[in-house]
Amino acid sequence: MDLHDALRTTFAAREYTADPLPDETLFRILDRARFAPSGGNRQGWHVIVVRDGRTRQALADLTVPAARRYAAQQVAGENPWNPVDPTTVDPPTIERTPAPTRLTEPLFRAAAVLVVCVDLKVVAATDQYLPRVSVVPGASIYPFVWNILLSARGEGFGGTITTLAVSQEPKVRELLGIPGHVAVAAVVPLGRPVKQLTRLRRKGVAEFTTRERWNGPPLVAPGA
Ligand SMILES: Cc1cc2nc3c(=O)[nH]c(=O)nc-3n(C[C@H](O)[C@H](O)[C@H](O)COP(=O)(O)O)c2cc1C
Repeated sequence: MDLHDALRTTFAAREYTADPLPDETLFRILDRARFAPSGGNRQGWHVIVVRDGRTRQALADLTVPAARRYAAQQVAGENPWNPVDPTTVDPPTIERTPAPTRLTEPLFRAAAVLVVCVDLKVVAATDQYLPRVSVVPGASIYPFVWNILLSARGEGFGGTITTLAVSQEPKVRELLGIPGHVAVAAVVPLGRPVKQLTRLRRKGVAEFTTRERWNGPPLVAPGA
């Protein structure tokens, strides 16, 4: 598949056909994804392939608390789970808010679920002492996760990066036997998408790119 098309059309697939994802195909997907970059090329990733129905149900159940909060914050007009503005939604409201099924169902409808972990003993977290939430260590694992989805796209498969279950990381660790120094980065349902989206809603370049400084002039299309 053409790289340009793959970049423009790899979407968050949450509905899948009943087609299986054979180990052979999954192996090929991971065999291409592994060329992702990571800090110091330390490749701290570990993928757990979950096919067992009960384990998937458990992962879906562990998604529910964060999904409730996500939905409740959306209703309140907030940016869910952002680490800057504390939520104004009270815990009982969150507890009463149903978890949207689109956030949980893919986990038991997909042909397989990949739990992608990263060894925190090998990532370079250069922002760990700053007075804000750390983002740099994610750069040593999410390029790999995204490569999985790009590679799956090339095989006619698709999935979604999900992170809601990570709010329950100690329970995910216990469920899957993950050691304490290893973080859960994403839970990725993978299957053959029911439909292939080709026009993704994304901001234009000029909306997020400026010259020289944050508030510099936008980078507009040449000739515009
Ligand atoms: C870091 C990250 C976390 C995400 N977490 C979830 C999630 O927990 N559940 C979910 O359904 N989608 C999740 N998504 C998928 C996004 O909602 C999706 O990529 C975005 O809405 C764009 O969708 P599109 O490619 O179909 O346009 C996540 C995506 C990223 C990059």
